[in-house]
Amino acid sequence: MKKHILVIPGDGIGQEVTQWGKAALDQIAKNYNHEFTFDEALMGHAAIKVTGNPLPDETLEKARKSDAILFGAIGHAMYDNDPSLKVRPEQGLLKIRKELGLYANLRPILLFDELLEASSIKAHILKGTDILFFRELTGDVYFGEKKRSEDRNTASDLMIYHKYEVERIAHKAYQAAQQRSKRLCSVDKANVLESSRLWRETVQEIAKQYPDVETEHMFIDNAAMQLIKNPKKFDVVLTANLFGDILTDEASQIAGSMGMLASASVGDGVGFYEPIHGSAHDIAGKNLANPLASILSAALMLEISFGLPEEAKALVNAVDQALKDGYRTGDIADQNTEASKVLGTQEMGNKVLGLIK
Ligand code: IPM
Ligand code: MG
Repeated sequence: MKKHILVIPGDGIGQEVTQWGKAALDQIAKNYNHEFTFDEALMGHAAIKVTGNPLPDETLEKARKSDAILFGAIGHAMYDNDPSLKVRPEQGLLKIRKELGLYANLRPILLFDELLEASSIKAHILKGTDILFFRELTGDVYFGEKKRSEDRNTASDLMIYHKYEVERIAHKAYQAAQQRSKRLCSVDKANVLESSRLWRETVQEIAKQYPDVETEHMFIDNAAMQLIKNPKKFDVVLTANLFGDILTDEASQIAGSMGMLASASVGDGVGFYEPIHGSAHDIAGKNLANPLASILSAALMLEISFGLPEEAKALVNAVDQALKDGYRTGDIADQNTEASKVLGTQEMGNKVLGLIK
């Protein structure tokens, strides 16, 4: 199979981790006789520094021409500490999601047994958890109109959904549920928000087309609580952009660390694959970042964009084996980890690459 992959490392630890996602793809191509070619492009603070624009036209053009995109992370401390800055790295990410029509963000909570002790939640509560989030990605308060009064003392962000936006992601989530345990939980705040009432009505309608799937509707506050109390209760979770952003960071603690979770953003065309973690500037360039989420993002690309489940499984198995062999990056090490097996980014990347080989 011939595929052209665009790598967008972005900011902070993005550079260090995407290097390993890319190396994993390269190794898979060798093992299975595929031809993967790679190009690179700028986004976020890295792009602002050079072009003044968080998403240069050139990046967007390269993205449109590629078969899939491997992305790292975005953000920089200088913007976090100065909310008044008008040009911001995150604008690049939001714009590329919108431009490429990436309306469905799939975030699987993949739990490796070896990491049960790395979570702050008790192992017996976690064991057996397997959740697939469908977070809507191109609507909601993220893209609704933003306003600030003339005296600057009042601000608003419009939380807005159109019916078709709910329908198209609901179909994707229901189709996934049919392939899994046939349970879907839709999360909203329909007791308070009109946009959530539209969400719920629409999901109720779509549900009729999938009679084999059992649907539950849950309020976001309750869902946030249940996720920690009894994560096994969930299978496919369907939710809006902002709720999904928050719930999936929470859910990452089920998998032990943000450094373990991969995601796939899909929609109208090319797929976009990225770890759910951010740019973590505090540890950037220190060889401390966990490269596993980038490698697992590459696995999602192989499976979803290229239809290569066996190749995808080879990557997941290599990650699993590295963990079984006792290797950990700092974020997933616990009191049982041998000191000599706590690895840096490069060493963990190499370890997994060796196992793929
Ligand atoms: C994510 C991130 C982004 C989001 C930020 C960086 C804009 O938190 O992908 O979850 O809020 O969507
Ligand atoms: Mg987030």
